[in-house]
Amino acid sequence: MSAELALELHQKYFGMKPKAISFAPGRINLIGEHTDYNGGFVMPAAINKGLWVTARVIDGETRMISSVAGTSKPFCAESTEPGDASGWAKYPAGMAWALRSQFGPMPNLECAVFSTLPSSSGVSSSAAIEMAFGMVWKALVGFQITPTELALLGQKCENQYVVVNCGIMDQMASACGRANHAVFIDTRSLDFEYASVSDQYAVMLLDTKKPRALTSSAYNERRSQCETAASIMGVELLRDADLSLLQANKSRLDEVVYRRAKHVITENYRCQEFRVVLRSDDRNGIFTLMKGSHDSLRDDYEVSCPELDAMAESAWVSPGVVGARMTGAGFGGACVALVEKGSVSEFSKVCLEGYAEKTGMTGDALVCSIENGARILNF
Ligand code: GLA
Repeated sequence: MSAELALELHQKYFGMKPKAISFAPGRINLIGEHTDYNGGFVMPAAINKGLWVTARVIDGETRMISSVAGTSKPFCAESTEPGDASGWAKYPAGMAWALRSQFGPMPNLECAVFSTLPSSSGVSSSAAIEMAFGMVWKALVGFQITPTELALLGQKCENQYVVVNCGIMDQMASACGRANHAVFIDTRSLDFEYASVSDQYAVMLLDTKKPRALTSSAYNERRSQCETAASIMGVELLRDADLSLLQANKSRLDEVVYRRAKHVITENYRCQEFRVVLRSDDRNGIFTLMKGSHDSLRDDYEVSCPELDAMAESAWVSPGVVGARMTGAGFGGACVALVEKGSVSEFSKVCLEGYAEKTGMTGDALVCSIENGARILNF
């Protein structure tokens, strides 16, 4: 349906049929938060909300229309450099720039972008747009690239062209996702394996409707605190530290830096443990690890906010809950919850009522299916 709407938008705006169409999903992270830029473990999943891009090669500059953001200023895909593009065009332009470093200049396109991603809720529309444009250029140019390589170019686009210092989790989830599975990723080696998510559970996005704020500056501050902790402890990345090394160095670490490192080290334990409890369907384990992750992000990493705490607290006591926590970078956005399939409507009602009582705000609860990663579609 959304693919048809994307095709319709293209035809209506440009008066021509596109030659290729791609889809890339947003992601939800089950566990492993703020570990990816520390070489640690993450466990995201690609969701059924995402972004469709239709495209046709043209002469002249790249022109785009988006179902949510309207038109953007044209840019030259063949020669664009960091600083050229503005607004949401930075993502496609940055992908053209990153792809050029490996495959030579990308042709200019006319394209339509259709999105079903809820805005500002932290499901990574940026990774989705990067992966969808990577795929559409792949379809039109015909180069060969693996999902992991595409994810790395997406990260390069974001770090060096858009100038957002993100890790690799979002791009890997969008590129490598598999239906009904979470992706357990070692972000140092980029090895990954699929972990099946029980079909008894619905994966829910609990949107606080509090837009994410201050993310970039606070995110960079957390990254540098992690680097400080690693260097004081004499390890390359916090991935290489364990709790006994942390305790041995406690007196040499600033109190805040100590807590940041404690979060990352314990979150790496939780993420590895989560792979085990998900496989054995240990519900107590799932609940405890997801709650432990939220508590640690709130108290030690300090990236939660009153709205995320209220949503998680409400989810923990709602009928049918299997586990819940904040998901994504934090400072607003959404929680993720695993919920017994038969209890979804009761869970949503009770959880959102509890959230409204605590905050006076109206949140949203969405069931997401777990889908395959970025791909070229036939039409
Ligand atoms: C953002 C970044 C990811 C990751 C998460 C926190 O989504 O893009 O790389 O660091 O925050 O886990």
